[in-house]
Amino acid sequence: MSAAVTDKVALAGFRRIVGPDAVLTAPDAMAPFLSDHRKLYEGAALAVLRPGSVEEVSQLLAFCNGTQIGVVPQGGNTGYCGGATPDESGRQVVLSLARLARLRSIDATNNSMVAEAGCLLANLQREAEAVDRYFPLSLGSEGSCQIGGNLGTNAGGLNVVRYGMTRDLVLGLEVVLADGRVLSSLGELRKDNTGYDLKALFVGAEGTLGVITAASLKLFPRPRAIATAFVAVRSVAAAVDLLNLLREASGDRVSSFELVPQVAIELTTRHISGVSQPLAGEYPWCVLCELTSARAADDLDAMLENALREAMDGGLLDDAALAQNERQRAAFWRLRESIPEAQRREGASLKHDIALPIGALARFVAEASGWIAAHLPEAVLVAYGHVGDGNLHFNVNARAGTDPLHLVSRADEVQRVVHDLVAANGGSISAEHGIGRLKVDELARYAPPVKLELMRAIKRALDPNGIMNPGKVLHSA
Ligand code: FAD
Ligand code: MLT
Ligand code: ZN
Repeated sequence: MSAAVTDKVALAGFRRIVGPDAVLTAPDAMAPFLSDHRKLYEGAALAVLRPGSVEEVSQLLAFCNGTQIGVVPQGGNTGYCGGATPDESGRQVVLSLARLARLRSIDATNNSMVAEAGCLLANLQREAEAVDRYFPLSLGSEGSCQIGGNLGTNAGGLNVVRYGMTRDLVLGLEVVLADGRVLSSLGELRKDNTGYDLKALFVGAEGTLGVITAASLKLFPRPRAIATAFVAVRSVAAAVDLLNLLREASGDRVSSFELVPQVAIELTTRHISGVSQPLAGEYPWCVLCELTSARAADDLDAMLENALREAMDGGLLDDAALAQNERQRAAFWRLRESIPEAQRREGASLKHDIALPIGALARFVAEASGWIAAHLPEAVLVAYGHVGDGNLHFNVNARAGTDPLHLVSRADEVQRVVHDLVAANGGSISAEHGIGRLKVDELARYAPPVKLELMRAIKRALDPNGIMNPGKVLHSA
């Protein structure tokens, strides 16, 4: 049975396991680990622990389980829902995976690699490239997020329309369970129907069921032909029609399909140096789309140009610019990837990471933006994102010259309207950013009761003492 211990005894136990240098307690040293990057949450902790091996993670969890100390796994701390931030009690520990950053193996023949949780996503993309392969997970935060955090959140990003979310890229996992046991399931098999798919449970669990220490991941042939275009579509409905037209015309080679409204172009060109207007005119809705193929000989530019011409003849588009070279392609992507930063520089914003069946997107946007126009005159809608996956970042910023605090004071009301409309249209209140601490009440409100019961039963079975990331995803028992 477990027993609470004094802080002094706990710290001595941690130092015995990982050594004194890997136990941070000084306020300055701990500070970067105690708040999320949006500064929505400011926590406190008994210590920040930096284990250097799976064995150390295992011993730490066994110790915390026995002493009822809550453990908050942390990767790159780029998450949007406060999942990696400890609570304010000062009784939890942050478990940083940053030192577990070894690529254990990479196998071009099997198209797979085994990477430890603390590997930076961008480093894994480079490792794959070094053996002439492609790891398709790509996010604006890839220079700082870690694969363990990507797995913890089941991150989406820019290539989901072709390659799926992080969960779809996983062949196997190594996970340290709450009691310190290690589930070692790092097989690199494509087929394995031997019982329940346990790895799927840990991906997207946001550290509430165990600590992922390593993963075997799928690799793909490298894209050798790429065609990219910035397209002014007539409407959101036209964007959806264009997606389907492009998928057919290109033999399903669409790898990215991102919605960029005029307001985001205006924000990025104003706030981010080097971003310029991609089209001569201004249009309410644009799409950044990309075709890729592993065959260098595929003339994707011609394929994309023909498909866009057909779409223009069919009344879906007003204008389009095809990237003529890598520099222009990078400029289109810089604009897209800078939207969150430009929005941040503009000031206070309300964010909603939502998904809808693609067929319901246009109706949802019409209904939700209609409500905002009628009820929030102080707000500017900045709805952008992974429209090819039915995922929008349906955000609103304070209009210049208005009091941002007034918008912020209406956050709950706006969220209710947006999420109710999402639910009414068969969508999800969290498409890719997770639940963390931010959306625990929202999940409890919108998830089917049986789903919540099963989630709680799984949590109890895997973490009976409730030490794994308490209060995240589900309310603490
Ligand atoms: P953290 O923020 O450290 O942790 C996130 C969650 O995972 C926490 O609950 C934490 O406890 C848990 N966790 C961390 N490591 C482990 C582990 N080893 N085992 C178990 N649980 C763990 N997200 C998208 O999905 N798509 C995007 O396009 C996207 N773009 C972004 C762009 C920018 C500029 C920024 C700042 C963020 C973006 N994000 C995006 C959000 C964020 O980068 C992702 O959620 C990312 O997957 C988080 O990784 P991390 O290593 O920073 O995890
Ligand atoms: C994106 O797609 O840019 C992110 O997921 C949203 C964000 O960073 O706000
Ligand atoms: Zn996104």
